[in-house]
Amino acid sequence: MNVTKRKMEKTIDKEKTQHVSVMLDEVVEALEIKEGDCVVDATLGGGGYTKKLREIVGKNGHVISIDKDESAIQRMKIFAKEQGWQNITLLHSDFRNIGIIVNDVRKGKKVDAVVADLGVSSDQINNPLRGFSFMTEGPIDMRMDTSQEMSANEIVNTCTTEDLKKLIATYGDEPYAKRIADAIVSSRPLSTTIQLAQAIKQVVPRNLKSKIHPATKTFQALRIAVNKEYEGIEEFLDGAVGVLKKDGILVIVSFHSGEDHIVKNVMRNKARGCICPPELPQCVCKKPQELKIRRGKPQTPKEDEVKRNPRARSAKMRVAQKV
Ligand SMILES: C[S@@+](CC[C@H](N)C(=O)[O-])C[C@H]1O[C@@H](n2cnc3c(N)ncnc32)[C@H](O)[C@@H]1O
Repeated sequence: MNVTKRKMEKTIDKEKTQHVSVMLDEVVEALEIKEGDCVVDATLGGGGYTKKLREIVGKNGHVISIDKDESAIQRMKIFAKEQGWQNITLLHSDFRNIGIIVNDVRKGKKVDAVVADLGVSSDQINNPLRGFSFMTEGPIDMRMDTSQEMSANEIVNTCTTEDLKKLIATYGDEPYAKRIADAIVSSRPLSTTIQLAQAIKQVVPRNLKSKIHPATKTFQALRIAVNKEYEGIEEFLDGAVGVLKKDGILVIVSFHSGEDHIVKNVMRNKARGCICPPELPQCVCKKPQELKIRRGKPQTPKEDEVKRNPRARSAKMRVAQKV
């Protein structure tokens, strides 16, 4: 066995999660759930939220947890079995299917709360075989759902320079997108995360003040593109509002300005009723107000959480209530 393979296997732990939940106390408080409630965790990940939610709703409540990563679902199935939990439903799916899922599981009944903690988990990043990290050697993969066909390898090795540049600039907010796209195209074929990171590092000017790795933004951009992370958020929010009971709570934690922008706009739009021009004597648009924004500004983690878990530093939590 070569050293890289040994190193990879050492870091893979299928049973224990390495993910530290972000803003757990704030999320739980915002959800306002109680014993006997039904709640959806749309992004199970390491299961930190799900475990806490199950503790609160108790054996008379119900938790429905979704993840597009099959390994997150399998890990929680083992845990739930060990705990003897009956009233938890774990589903491998994209959260954009929340409407169909909840209708199916609840036979048309609505739920008390929905939460989503967007993005990637530490279990995904820390596993070199998943190809999310520029720190460890692995295939250029980055698929959250490994049953999906397209991986980052296909994007890196087949996209035109122009498409790569656009993708890296849009999803990574990377000022050196053009240079990086040129470097990727001229270094093809690329097959490992380290090769990709090296190609990027060679063309990004060294910034001694910056603590972030030169490949950070490009890896983020590729991950968002591979998993179509932004495309599904609006559909998910529509579905989530549809399955909530009146007064039910929706909590979304996001990590990138692109994600937060979508969440903010959808929530604001749903919190507005009629959009007819004021000169019309009566409403013709019939647009209903679906949500009430619970807090104007997004909540961010406390300083001590960011110290304990630096991954939390860019988190933003938005809360709304169904009207
Ligand atoms: C930040 S982690 C969630 C961590 C979790 N809250 C915890 O406390 O352990 C995000 C999870 O969402 C999943 N995910 C991302 N986009 C998704 C989507 N469109 N549908 C379903 N799951 C998704 C990822 O696979 C990942 O496991």
